[in-house]
Amino acid sequence: MDDSTLEITIFPNGPARINCTKAIITLPNGTTVTKEKPFSLCRCGASEKKPFCDGSHTNCGFKG
Ligand code: FES
Repeated sequence: MDDSTLEITIFPNGPARINCTKAIITLPNGTTVTKEKPFSLCRCGASEKKPFCDGSHTNCGFKG
């Protein structure tokens, strides 16, 4: 993967894994978070660290 390629992997019953070298995420309150390595976004809604996955999907019965 070169620096200009963004790869997203949707895990069954789990998060969306964002594989990139740098991402700037704007949160609902307008603040930004910079990630300089791969990270996972929550799809289940149960994470205490939204929008990021904290592993809660394994215990909430999420199917998707
Ligand atoms: S997808 Fe992992 S906590 Fe929601």
